Order: sequence, then C-alpha cells, then structure tokens
Amino acid sequence: MRFPAQAIMAAFAAAVCLGAAPAGAVTINGSHASLKCETCHAGQAAKAAPSQKTCLKCHGSYEALAKKTAKAGEKFNPHDSHMGRVECTQCHSMHGKSHYICHDCHAIPNRKFKGE
Ligand code: HEC
Ligand code: HEC
Ligand code: HEC
Ligand code: HEC
Repeated sequence: MRFPAQAIMAAFAAAVCLGAAPAGAVTINGSHASLKCETCHAGQAAKAAPSQKTCLKCHGSYEALAKKTAKAGEKFNPHDSHMGRVECTQCHSMHGKSHYICHDCHAIPNRKFKGE
C-alpha cells in the first residue's frame, strides 16, 4: 500500500519540477551567470533592460570602461565616442546576443565582445 503512494508522490513532484522549469528558464551570459535576478531587475514590474545606473554600480564609470577598451592607434572606442553615454544594453545583451551598434554606420574590424 505504501509503495504506490510514494510512487504517486514522486511522480507528482517530478511533474511539478518539470512544469516549473520553462517559466524560470533564462540564461544569463558570461560573468553574470551566478547573479540573482534582482541584482539587475529589482523594482521592475515586468523584467526589462536595467538602466546603466545598475550596471555602473559594479562597473564604475564610462570613463573607467573607456580606459579598458582604449587601443593604441584605434579611434573607435565603444565607451568613448560621439554617441555619448549610450545605455549599456544598446550593445550588451545579458540573455541574448550582443550587438555593437557602431557597426551600423562604421566598419570596425578589431572589436569583439568577450566570449564571441
Ligand atoms: C546582469 C544583469 C541581469 C541579470 C543578473 C538578469 N537579467 Fe534579465 N535582463 C537583463 C537585461 C540587460 C535585459 C534586456 C535584454 C537582454 O539584455 O538580453 C533583461 C531582460 C530580461 C527579461 C525580458 C525578456 C528579454 O529577454 O528581453 C526577462 C524575462 C529577464 N530578463 C529575466 C531574468 C531572470 C529570470 C533573471 C534571473 C535568473 C535575470 N533576468 C537576471 C539583465 C539581467
Ligand atoms: C553585481 C555586479 C555586476 C553588475 C550589476 C553588472 N556586472 Fe557586468 N560584470 C561583473 C563582473 C564581476 C564581471 C567580470 C569582471 C569584468 O570583466 O569586469 C563583469 C563582466 C562584464 C562584461 C564582460 C563580459 C563578461 O561577461 O565577462 C560586460 C560586457 C558587462 N559585465 C556588462 C554589464 C552590463 C551591461 C550590466 C548591466 C546590465 C552589468 N554588466 C551589470 C559584475 C557586474
Ligand atoms: C556602443 C556599444 C557599447 C556600449 C553602449 C557599451 N559597451 Fe561595453 N563593450 C562594447 C564592446 C564592442 C566591447 C569589447 C571591446 C574590445 O574588444 O576592446 C565592450 C567591452 C565591455 C567590457 C569588457 C571590458 C574589458 O575588456 O575588460 C565591459 C565590462 C563593458 N563593456 C561594460 C559596459 C557597460 C557597463 C556599459 C554601460 C555603462 C557599456 N559597456 C556600454 C560595446 C559597448
Ligand atoms: C547613426 C550612424 C552612426 C553611428 C551609430 C555611429 N557613428 Fe560614428 N560617425 C558617424 C558619422 C556620420 C560620422 C562623421 C563622418 C565621418 O567622419 O565618418 C562619424 C564619425 C565618427 C568618428 C570620427 C571619424 C574618423 O574617421 O575619424 C569616430 C571615431 C566614430 N564616429 C566612432 C563611433 C563609435 C565608437 C560609435 C559607436 C559607439 C559610432 N561612431 C556610432 C555616424 C555614426
């Protein structure tokens, strides 16, 4: 009598787990993979790209980033240009594929996002 009851419970638990997986199935790219959703999405009614304020809490400033991505003899710096302080997520995707918007107008050969 006990075995079938346990089997039913196990099947029920498995069904609940499988059923729950797709709803929360979001992949976070790269170095942010272990972050909690709230780290970027706190205070949002529906999850959407956070503002650069959220990103800069950890990444410092546009100036600091511009130093990291400055290359000798290279005039195209994604973090220092006539575009100004564009929202980070215009280029960097956290769940999908990043898009270097400068390429929309300029051919820039030697810039790659980490991991691509
Ligand atoms: C490092 C910051 C960051 C973390 C952590 C993060 N997200 Fe996001 N999320 C974003 C950004 C940026 C977008 C805008 C779309 C993109 O970048 O792919 C977004 C968009 C979304 C969207 C809207 C659909 C879409 O893809 O545009 C959902 C839903 C979402 N996130 C869910 C989650 C869940 C669930 C977690 C935790 C498992 C999470 N996010 C963790 C930054 C983050
Ligand atoms: C809780 C802190 C934290 C937040 C918030 C955060 N990052 Fe990061 N991010 C890191 C760390 C740590 C690294 C790895 C070290 C490094 O490259 O600076 C990283 C790396 C990156 C990289 C290099 C690629 C990679 O995955 O290693 C990019 C691009 C980046 N972050 C963009 C963003 C953007 C855009 C946002 C806002 C949507 C954001 N980060 C929010 C901590 C954070
Ligand atoms: C116009 C597109 C664009 C915008 C806007 C942008 N980035 Fe980037 N980012 C890039 C590209 C392209 C690279 C790779 C550069 C390279 O290969 O030198 C990069 C590299 C990075 C890196 C890795 C730096 C390293 O080499 O260690 C971090 C971290 C980062 N971005 C964070 C941010 C944050 C945070 C913001 C917003 C404040 C932001 N980016 C806005 C295009 C952009
Ligand atoms: C909507 C189109 C557009 C986008 C997007 C764009 N630019 Fe430009 N950019 C221009 C135009 C137009 C000029 C002026 C004409 C020229 O000198 O090529 C220019 C000029 C420049 C110059 C000076 C040109 C030279 O040859 O000395 C640099 C550097 C530059 N852009 C970098 C960037 C960077 C970095 C990004 C991304 C953050 C970017 N641009 C995004 C249109 C764009």
